[in-house]
Amino acid sequence: MSETPTRPRVLSGMQPSGESLHLGNYLGALVNWVKTQDDYENLFFIPDMHAITVPQDPVELRGRTRRTAAQYIAGGIDVAKSILFLQSHVPEHAQLAWVLNCITGFGEASRMTQFKDKSAKGGQEMASVGLFTYPVLMAADILLYRPVGVPVGDDQRQHVELARDLAKRFNHRFGDTFTVPEPFIQKEGARIYDLQNPTAKMSKSASGPNGLINLLDEPKVTAKRIKSAVTDTGTVIAHDRENKPGVTNLLEILSTLTDTPVGALVDGYQGRMYGHLKADVADAVVARLEPIRARTLELLDDPAELDRLLAHGAAKAREIASVTLADVYNKVGFLPPLGTVA
Ligand code: TRP
Repeated sequence: MSETPTRPRVLSGMQPSGESLHLGNYLGALVNWVKTQDDYENLFFIPDMHAITVPQDPVELRGRTRRTAAQYIAGGIDVAKSILFLQSHVPEHAQLAWVLNCITGFGEASRMTQFKDKSAKGGQEMASVGLFTYPVLMAADILLYRPVGVPVGDDQRQHVELARDLAKRFNHRFGDTFTVPEPFIQKEGARIYDLQNPTAKMSKSASGPNGLINLLDEPKVTAKRIKSAVTDTGTVIAHDRENKPGVTNLLEILSTLTDTPVGALVDGYQGRMYGHLKADVADAVVARLEPIRARTLELLDDPAELDRLLAHGAAKAREIASVTLADVYNKVGFLPPLGTVA
């Protein structure tokens, strides 16, 4: 392997699912990415090619991709420390995915639970082949960069397992090529629930807009949604996922934002009311998100500069990806194109 990173390398991506990242994306993923920037060599990318495995409006996709990139940067991804890029800017992802498709069993791909869930919604017949092979593209995303770890949520664990299996299989058949990456599963505490339906994960497809905190919402809207969050019967502020999921969710949000253990927060709220907790959570969330929103809007005001940053990230990503792909093409027996040396 030609490049030896000084810091261990990690790579992650997150599908932009809505008009804005939400608090669950931010606290569950982005905050952790930001924290790893000094200890690891980081690659973060926007899986826009995964996005089109389900139908997308082209204009909306472009807008959402730019907005997501801007929110990554505004949320703390430092493009001087980390490589930030779009998947579609690095053709090696699709190229490696093809090779990996050819060593993936049809049955193996059929067992991916996310495909089963997503295709069940519209009926198997309607699901695209792209959706079917989504995990193989994800394996290519990962293996191209030979990272030691992949920070993901628990829902992506099976996909990282597939990447590990494919890495081992390829290495066994063609000689040592890929690093077998570890899943770095983000901890449960970082999971944020819907404000109106606090037993369901916060997601744009959940109960409706009032359960969701978007990074790009106006601070007024954010505060109002938190103040109208569903709480639980009773009056005591306690951490109890089973019986008080609403209050527990608010405590978790406050704990993550203020870096205070939940136990200490609960002690502090003895004898106080749900309304006090909600007001504090609203203040903490708004204080954290307001500058991120402002910075995002500023970045979006200058799309040419944003595109320049992304082009820079793509060039750096390609330096790594092209070396791996050339190695893979050579190992599987493709002749080198004219003008290159094998
Ligand atoms: N499937 C991931 C998600 O839905 C996004 C993703 C695509 C990804 N490729 C990846 C994550 C590679 C980590 C590594 O969030």
